[in-house]
Amino acid sequence: MRGLFITLEGPEGAGKTTNRAYLAEQLQAQGFDVVLTREPGGTPLAEQIREILLAPHTETMSVDTELLLMFAARAQHLTQVIKPALAAGKIVICDRFTDATYAYQGGGRGLDCSRIAMLEQFVQGDLRPDMTLLFDLPVEDGMARAVARGKLDRFEQEQHDFFAAVRQSYLQRADNDPERFRLVNAQHTLVDVQRSLDVHLVEIMSRARE
Ligand SMILES: Nc1ncnc2c1ncn2[C@@H]1O[C@H](COP(=O)(O)OP(=O)(O)OP(=O)(O)O)[C@@H](O)[C@H]1O
Ligand SMILES: [Mg+2]
Repeated sequence: MRGLFITLEGPEGAGKTTNRAYLAEQLQAQGFDVVLTREPGGTPLAEQIREILLAPHTETMSVDTELLLMFAARAQHLTQVIKPALAAGKIVICDRFTDATYAYQGGGRGLDCSRIAMLEQFVQGDLRPDMTLLFDLPVEDGMARAVARGKLDRFEQEQHDFFAAVRQSYLQRADNDPERFRLVNAQHTLVDVQRSLDVHLVEIMSRARE
């Protein structure tokens, strides 16, 4: 068995965390060794960086600071968790990864993507996800689910235009890289979303057995 790096992407409320548990259960039932993790975060130190990133502050965080903190957390996460797990032949399922940086800091905040690409290369080298499931849904639906869940973090407090740009950016990336991306219609009921994930699970299992 070889390691497989699966990332889950999409806006707040799309169902990434809910379905990450479902994916893990199905894979574990078939005997696969699965590591569930998330970004920003995934190690104690990186989770501290996450807190800085998500908490609302009175001081405005510069876009560059936000970008660098994202990649600082990622560097830690890759070294401590993701690379060792892949080297041990495990399936890593990560809730958000670098596509989120392109969507939020690039699309949402308007940062030049070439700067993100530079850091991506610096921090990750050639490492890229083997497969990315993009949970897509209309902006209003995602916002409504996030609001229903309770207190909003620094990103969730953004307005409609920000999330529209995030969604557009995600869809564009999926369009540019159909080999890696699998689009999941996250507007459907949870049961229907999981039925659509079953197709991808078959592919994940077969690739992990290669
Ligand atoms: N298909 C669905 N239909 C209706 N509600 C859903 C569906 N999927 C998830 N939810 C609900 O929407 C809320 C957000 O789901 P979840 O936390 O999994 O989203 P997320 O993508 O992880 O969001 P975030 O990026 O903010 O962490 C939860 O309350 C969850 O129960
Ligand atoms: Mg989540």
